[in-house]
Amino acid sequence: MDQKEMDQIREEIKCFQAKTSNDLEFFRIKFLGKKKGILTFLFKKLKEIPHENRKNIGKIINELKKNVQDKILHFQKINLIENKKTLKFDPTIPGKSLEIGSLHPISIVKNRILDIFKMIGFSYVEGPEIENDWHNFTALNIPVDHPSREMQDTFFLCKNPEILLRTHTSSVQIRYMKKHKPPFRVLSIGKVYRNETISSHSNFMFHQAEGFYIDKKVSFLDLKKIIQYLINSLFGKSVKIRFRPSYFPFTEPSAEVDIYRDDKTGWLEVMGCGMIDPQVLKNVHINSEIYSGFAFGMGIERLALLIYQIDDIRICFENDIRFLKQFQNDF
Ligand code: PHE
Repeated sequence: MDQKEMDQIREEIKCFQAKTSNDLEFFRIKFLGKKKGILTFLFKKLKEIPHENRKNIGKIINELKKNVQDKILHFQKINLIENKKTLKFDPTIPGKSLEIGSLHPISIVKNRILDIFKMIGFSYVEGPEIENDWHNFTALNIPVDHPSREMQDTFFLCKNPEILLRTHTSSVQIRYMKKHKPPFRVLSIGKVYRNETISSHSNFMFHQAEGFYIDKKVSFLDLKKIIQYLINSLFGKSVKIRFRPSYFPFTEPSAEVDIYRDDKTGWLEVMGCGMIDPQVLKNVHINSEIYSGFAFGMGIERLALLIYQIDDIRICFENDIRFLKQFQNDF
């Protein structure tokens, strides 16, 4: 290897330009490749060179190696910068458009009921959908052989029939009254499960709102006033309201509330209510000599159907965008 050849190699390294990462890899292999790299070969040959020249030539080959490595680093850096440039944010590309969603009519009615009760000092609580027999039935005066269990058939756990999906939100009354001392006024809203015609249209599930109010000297008149306030807030002042005597094991006296909006639809039942039975208060260790209270429960779906004049409850659960979009401006 003479001086001329060395100069040629130096010149080649100096003039090298990489356009692609492939070019760079070829360049690396050509000079530093383990088997056939030019500089690798020269390093191997170094042994054969007479001792007095070895140091000098070794120094030159090392310099050339350094030149090759610098070139490679240089082009790698440029490449990185180029890559970053292509990843850079391009404001001219149109963005992905996001569809604006809307609240489900059941959520809208739920929020409305919440607002109506917030105005008169009710607090909001939620209870579990998976309940035990005591909270859902026994504590509410519905013993094991009571016929009203038939009406509120639900999903029981085969292995433990003590555990079931709650059939009504009245179980929340029990949970709350066990933990808190009266007076209180509370609202609860959530899913309930029943094997019956209305709810079976909607997968055996519907939403219920439950309110209860306990204090000294609470009377049926208070109950009537609050129901009237709720119905008027939801349906306007012109609606007629009727309390029809009824029966629930956990309230005494009990009533169904019907509303009348026009001759076409006539009277429609919208909720159940009553004065909480003293035995229920005893079950949760509230002194029924001092305290009395009322409770009411209603299906949100039924209210939503009436408010929005929807004639088939099943549409509420089909997730049809054409239906849901109609409520976009309504909250
Ligand atoms: N829990 C009753 C039902 O689901 C409704 C109700 C609630 C009735 C509170 C009276 C008082 O049918």
